[in-house]
Amino acid sequence: MGLAALLRSPLLLVIISSARLVLGQYGSYNYGFDVTRRLRRQVAQQQQQPLVVVRGGGGGVQLRQEIRQLEQNQDQWTLYILGLSLMQFTDQTSPTSWYGITGIHGIPHKTWGGVGPTPGNEDTGYCTHSSVLFPTWHRPYLALYEQVLYSTVQMIATWWPEGEARQRYMNAAATFRIPYWDWAINPPTGQSVLPLSVGGSPYVDVNGPSGVQRIANPLFSFTFKPLNATAFLQAPWDYWMTTLRSPTTNDTHALSNNSQVALNLDQNLASLGQRLYILFSNYGNYSTFSNNAWIPLINDGSYDSLEALHDTVHNLAGGGGRDQPNSQGGHMAYIPYSAFDPIFFLHHTMIDRIFAIWQALYPNTWVTPQEAALPSFTTARGQVQDATTPLTPFFANSDRTFWTSATVRDHTQLGYTYAELVGKSGVSNATKEARSQASRAINRLYGASSPASLFIKEMTARRNRDKGRQRVSKRDSQSTPPSYLKSDDSPGNSSALTSRSGVVFVGNQYREWIANIYVKKQALNGPFSIHLFLGDVSNDPRTWASTPGHIGTMGVFASDARHGGMDMSHLDISGTIPLTTALVNKVISGELSSLEPLDVERYLRRNLKTRIARADGKVIERERIESLGIRIVSSVVRAPETEDELPVWGRVGVGFHLT
Ligand SMILES: *[C@@H]1O[C@H](CO)[C@@H](O)[C@H](O)[C@H]1NC(C)=O
Ligand SMILES: *[C@@H]1O[C@H](CO)[C@@H](O)[C@H](O)[C@H]1NC(C)=O
Ligand SMILES: *[C@@H]1O[C@H](CO)[C@@H](O)[C@H](O)[C@H]1NC(C)=O
Ligand SMILES: *[C@@H]1O[C@H](CO)[C@@H](O)[C@H](O)[C@H]1NC(C)=O
Ligand SMILES: *[C@@H]1O[C@H](CO)[C@@H](O)[C@H](O)[C@H]1NC(C)=O
Ligand SMILES: *[C@@H]1O[C@H](CO)[C@@H](O)[C@H](O)[C@H]1NC(C)=O
Repeated sequence: MGLAALLRSPLLLVIISSARLVLGQYGSYNYGFDVTRRLRRQVAQQQQQPLVVVRGGGGGVQLRQEIRQLEQNQDQWTLYILGLSLMQFTDQTSPTSWYGITGIHGIPHKTWGGVGPTPGNEDTGYCTHSSVLFPTWHRPYLALYEQVLYSTVQMIATWWPEGEARQRYMNAAATFRIPYWDWAINPPTGQSVLPLSVGGSPYVDVNGPSGVQRIANPLFSFTFKPLNATAFLQAPWDYWMTTLRSPTTNDTHALSNNSQVALNLDQNLASLGQRLYILFSNYGNYSTFSNNAWIPLINDGSYDSLEALHDTVHNLAGGGGRDQPNSQGGHMAYIPYSAFDPIFFLHHTMIDRIFAIWQALYPNTWVTPQEAALPSFTTARGQVQDATTPLTPFFANSDRTFWTSATVRDHTQLGYTYAELVGKSGVSNATKEARSQASRAINRLYGASSPASLFIKEMTARRNRDKGRQRVSKRDSQSTPPSYLKSDDSPGNSSALTSRSGVVFVGNQYREWIANIYVKKQALNGPFSIHLFLGDVSNDPRTWASTPGHIGTMGVFASDARHGGMDMSHLDISGTIPLTTALVNKVISGELSSLEPLDVERYLRRNLKTRIARADGKVIERERIESLGIRIVSSVVRAPETEDELPVWGRVGVGFHLT
């Protein structure tokens, strides 16, 4: 019986519907033949040799797109959903199943690809955190995931009936790459930062080779098949059958509350955007940019990092601690469990994109040798890591050599790029042109929350006005400079920035304010979040998500010591919550007279409030965390005059210590 005939067979319809009942509410796509047998054959072939993350990917260098953009491409989107679903329903013992790939990161702490643990590190995953390898290790990890999904998608495309449709899907599959989730851009009007496709529904209707079917939404959650309670060590992980975000309870009836996750992300949009914009503008040193380990006495302008920003999004996506009395953070908030949630790879692809764009801005700084602050499956604590350290377990060749930071430096070697970097390799093409191209994108996408964007807008408007005047001798443009821009000033410098009521800029300069935060990663024996507010805030965490004075959240992405293995108790980490946008709004509303130190210090001492909650919902008094320090710092910044430039920061100095 041919495939098409098989699909029309009434017998099969009966099998499908009873399979639905057995599998629970939503299952996988039914292609009308035994998919698992085909996959098993494929996997048997793969297990003959190490699974190599191949150079060049499949089909040359293709674009990784933003998830909402990929969704516009109906054929690729269908393939993406079907591919994810197939991976999630592939036998968990396969190294290329969802469980196999996501299990590399942390739990179940199992050997992958025959790359065994170094003695003493059996109870950790391969992932590297608080390490110079944080950005580079995740690069081949994503490439492996992309490669598996790519080949799955190629296979699925051939399952359409022969003819025009099959050809169409094969064409779509040929340029397929994994999408990223940009949590720092303004979402489409009326939508949340959390895409509907990810948090909107536990099922999805997909029009596959056998027509439209309702299947489990593979972006909503991953259901363990089965859950190995022994490997998941403790409650609630050893009874939660599916990945959860902002779980409604900590018992077996828990459901995801994606509305809560969306609310928390939306509330932090301006804060995430500012942090990203500052990382691009003022972090030109790989050592400090790359990871969250806190180095005491370093420059006050380097408390943030790509990893610290990444940590915050992990905690926001995991949720918990904010809405229910019995709350408990979801998988994304806990390092060892985070990778199972489908949002993990969307988030990490965004992190890789930030890294790649950052490389175009700062092509000459790279991994310098540093001791590992934390152990991983193949790294001992204290071991020196450098650009040639093997990024295990990702093979670069069948001779079992590994990818290294040096070999992943040029991301195009792995067969992908991002729209902001088209035609740029990230190394050889990191020229002035690449810098301008990247800066334009950064200003457009992430400048909105920075005063710098007001300045660019004003300068552009003025240039256009001047052009307009030359063309037609009409009356002056209606647009007058906003009141906070003292536009007639000659270009100033820091000592020229004196307090003038209602003024943000003097000439082309203004002052940025940041809360620098440092704390022991394990201060509360698990993930927690630090929230800053201006003005009144209650002690009830359920009100925080809707408190208007919320400035931003810094998430500390940790793990419970009972998970064993990765001992993080000695580690200090740092991050930031930028204050500038909130303060500029207060200058505009007249509550604060200027951004100058005397005014700001007086204002913040009266109005800045700190609240801290663990991911399990418990509110913690600041005084109870001995290792916590919050330093308010500021710098004079020169705003860019065109979109091709980024702000230029002066020395960041301590304003005052918050007690
Ligand atoms: C479950 O996990 C334990 C502990 O990691 C492991 O020893 C065991 O082999 C696993 N069981 C299965 C069926 O994978
Ligand atoms: C989910 O979160 C929203 C927003 O905070 C809240 O209104 C709602 O009650 C929560 N739902 C459940 C079931 O907890
Ligand atoms: C980069 O930062 C590291 C860590 O603080 C420091 O040791 C190194 O000197 C810095 N490199 C440059 C070029 O400033
Ligand atoms: C669930 O939450 C309750 C209330 O906070 C707590 O007493 C209980 O220990 C929690 N259960 C688990 C398994 O964490
Ligand atoms: C570098 O840029 C040039 C011109 O934009 C392009 O032709 C070339 O392919 C690029 N090289 C790489 C390695 O991307
Ligand atoms: C900065 O401004 C002050 C006061 O207007 C002026 O005296 C000084 O010369 C300026 N310094 C520079 C480097 O422009």
